[in-house]
Amino acid sequence: MDLYEYQARDLFAAHGVPVLDAVVADTPEQAAEAASKLEGSVVVVKAQVKAGGRGKAGGVKLAKSPEEAAERAKDILALTIKDLPVRRVMVTQGADIAEEYYFSVLLDRANRTYLAMASREGGMEIEELAVERPEALARIPVDAITGIDAAKAQEIVDAAGFAEDVKPQIIEVIQKLWTVFKSEDATLVEVNPLIKSGDGKIIALDGKVSLDENAGFRHPGHEELADKAAADPLEAKAKEKNLNYVKLDGNVGIIGNGAGLVMSTLDVVAYAGENFGGSKPANFLDIGGGASAEVMANGLEIILSDPQVKSVFVNVFGGITACDAVANGIVQAFALLESRGEAVTRPLVVRLDGNNAELGRKILTDAKLAGLEQVDTMDGAASRAAELAAKGA
Ligand SMILES: Nc1ncnc2c1ncn2[C@@H]1O[C@H](COP(=O)(O)OP(=O)(O)OP(=O)(O)O)[C@@H](O)[C@H]1O
Ligand SMILES: [Mg+2]
Repeated sequence: MDLYEYQARDLFAAHGVPVLDAVVADTPEQAAEAASKLEGSVVVVKAQVKAGGRGKAGGVKLAKSPEEAAERAKDILALTIKDLPVRRVMVTQGADIAEEYYFSVLLDRANRTYLAMASREGGMEIEELAVERPEALARIPVDAITGIDAAKAQEIVDAAGFAEDVKPQIIEVIQKLWTVFKSEDATLVEVNPLIKSGDGKIIALDGKVSLDENAGFRHPGHEELADKAAADPLEAKAKEKNLNYVKLDGNVGIIGNGAGLVMSTLDVVAYAGENFGGSKPANFLDIGGGASAEVMANGLEIILSDPQVKSVFVNVFGGITACDAVANGIVQAFALLESRGEAVTRPLVVRLDGNNAELGRKILTDAKLAGLEQVDTMDGAASRAAELAAKGA
C-alpha cells in the first residue's frame, strides 16, 4: 500500500525524523486556515497524489499569505496529475533550502536483501540521475538483521560523498528512517529531497512510503491509511469479504482457485474472446484452496454486481479441495444467493478438473442449475464463456 506524502510525513514525525509542520486541506478555505496556523511568512501548497513529479506538473506552489494559499490550493485541487485527480493538498512551512539530497531504503527483491540509496544531488530528477550518472547515486546493500546502524549509516554517507559538516546529522536521520522502514514493515521509504536548510539543518521535505500489506496484521493502525475514496467500489467490497479480487474492463467474470490458474484463465479468455467480438475478462478472482459455499457465493455476488459482466467462467482444478467439494459449494452458492435476493441470472460456464472431477461434474449435472453449463477443457470452457458474453452484450 502506497501512502500519501502527508501520511509518510506523519510516520516520519512519529519516529523522530525531522520534518516541517504541515496541515492537510480539502478546500481552498481550509488551505487558507492552514496557512494562517503555520509559522513563517511563506507556505508551500502541495498536491497529495500517489505519483512522483508533482512539482513539474504544477502541484507544488509557494504562497506568501493565507489568501494566496487559498488561490494556489484552488489551482492545484483542479489538477489531474498522471491521471490522478487531486482531492487534497498539504500546506506546509516554506523551507529555506541550501542543498537537496536523496535518500531511500527499499526491499531489493532481485538481490534478496534491502538496499539503501543516497545522493548529494537530490531534487526532482533522481530517475534521470540514476540512468545518466549512476556513479552519483550510492547503492549500499543493507542486511536485514543489522539494518542501518551507526556503522552502516557511516558507510552510506561516505559512499554518497556528503560534506563532512552534514554527515553527523544525516547519519542520525537515516538511522531513524531505517526505524520507520523496519518498525512499520515498509517496502520503500524514500526522501527526495532530504534538504540542508539555510541554517544547516537536515530535514525530510518529501516522503514516499510503501507499506507491506502482508504485515498488516501486525499494524492495526495501518488500515486507517487505506484510501477508501480512491479504491474501486467492487474491490473495496471484495476486500471486506477477504477476497483476492481485481476489477478489470471486460465482460467475462472469472473465478478460479490459485493465482497461477486464474492468471492463465485471464489469458485464455482474452485469446478466446478474439473470436467473439473481443470478449475479455472482467476481473481477477482467486478463491484459493478450501473454496467453501460461502466463499463461492461471495465471489459470485461480487462478480455479478459488476453490470459489465455478461457471463461467468468458473475454472477449478481440484487439489486438496476436491472438485466435489467445489461443486457442492457452487450448488449451495446458488441457493445462498437466491435467499439473498440475488439469484444468478447470467450464464455460468464451469470447468472442473483434477481431484474427484467426475464426482464434481455429476453433482452439478444432477443439480440442474439454471444457466449453468459444464465444459471439460479449459480452452473449450473459455471459448464458451466468451461466446455467451458476446451474446449477452
Ligand atoms: N516545504 C517546502 N519548502 C520549499 N520548497 C519546497 C518544499 N517542498 C517542496 N519544495 C520544492 O519543490 C520540489 C518538489 O517537491 P517534492 O519533492 O515534494 O514533490 P515532487 O515533485 O512530487 O517530487 P517527487 O517526484 O519526488 O514526488 C522540491 O524538490 C523542493 O525544491
Ligand atoms: Mg520529491
